[in-house]
Amino acid sequence: MNRFSGRVAIVTGGGTGIGAAVACQLSREGAEAVYIWGRRKAPLEALAARIMHCVPMSVDVGDEGAVRDAVESIVSRHGRIDLLANMAAISGPCARAEDYSMADFERVYRTNVFGTFLTMKYCLPHMQRNGSGAIVNACSCSGMRGYSNEIGYGSSKFAVLGLTQNAASENGKNGVRVNCVSPGWVDTDMLDEVLRGYESLNGMSPCKHELNHGTMERPASPDEISEAVCFLLSDAARYVNGANLVCDGGKTLQ
Ligand SMILES: NC(=O)c1ccc[n+]([C@@H]2O[C@H](COP(=O)([O-])OP(=O)(O)OC[C@H]3O[C@@H](n4cnc5c(N)ncnc54)[C@H](OP(=O)(O)O)[C@@H]3O)[C@@H](O)[C@H]2O)c1
Repeated sequence: MNRFSGRVAIVTGGGTGIGAAVACQLSREGAEAVYIWGRRKAPLEALAARIMHCVPMSVDVGDEGAVRDAVESIVSRHGRIDLLANMAAISGPCARAEDYSMADFERVYRTNVFGTFLTMKYCLPHMQRNGSGAIVNACSCSGMRGYSNEIGYGSSKFAVLGLTQNAASENGKNGVRVNCVSPGWVDTDMLDEVLRGYESLNGMSPCKHELNHGTMERPASPDEISEAVCFLLSDAARYVNGANLVCDGGKTLQ
């Protein structure tokens, strides 16, 4: 399949986990260039060395100047941005609301909410000018209902759903679509970090298979979520705008 032939893409959080799987799939399916963003150079450079047409960029999505400059440098090179996959996020601490520090709350919002806002803010004008573009944001089951001990992360994902719907309602008629995906548990570094958080809170942590995985009784692989992200980025989803594609293995059914 060459669904992304000639497309220029940005994948935030592209060095690891779901973002890395999305970058690999875009590259495999013909993208002209896949810019992967993250704060740490090592995972970005390791992935870029393995796949075609992949360019690592150290960009903190919560830093407005860095996002603006990175977008402009890509546009000055290619003349456009076609696809944006906003996968960067942090999970923050595992703590009840009364124990959650303001500093942690701000840190989680800076990446998960401000980062999603900033990348859209600076990419949308280029997509609008070209009359086409697709954005997919990483939401979560945690952005659809409340769970314990994750007030910063969970509420930030509710905000990502809101950002997606607001931006979608402002676009669409101009050929630009904005959607999001909501995974359940996915087997990535973030899941390992959350399990460590449970351990620091309770002195012990459930095993991966003991978490609520819904009907599938296992976490998703990053590739399984990438399939959903790439569907929404592709022309196959050309009439889908403002959607939240829940890919949680049935977790929110139970
Ligand atoms: N894993 C799950 O169970 C799960 C479930 C539902 C939703 N999600 C969502 O799926 C997305 C991908 O998560 P993942 O599971 O693949 O976790 P992951 O492997 O930890 O990936 C997160 C990525 O975001 C990057 N990142 C963090 N802060 C950043 C910042 N300020 N600027 C730029 N990049 C930043 C990280 O790289 P650096 O640290 O190098 O910056 C990392 O590559 C996230 O939005 C997450 O909330 C995950």
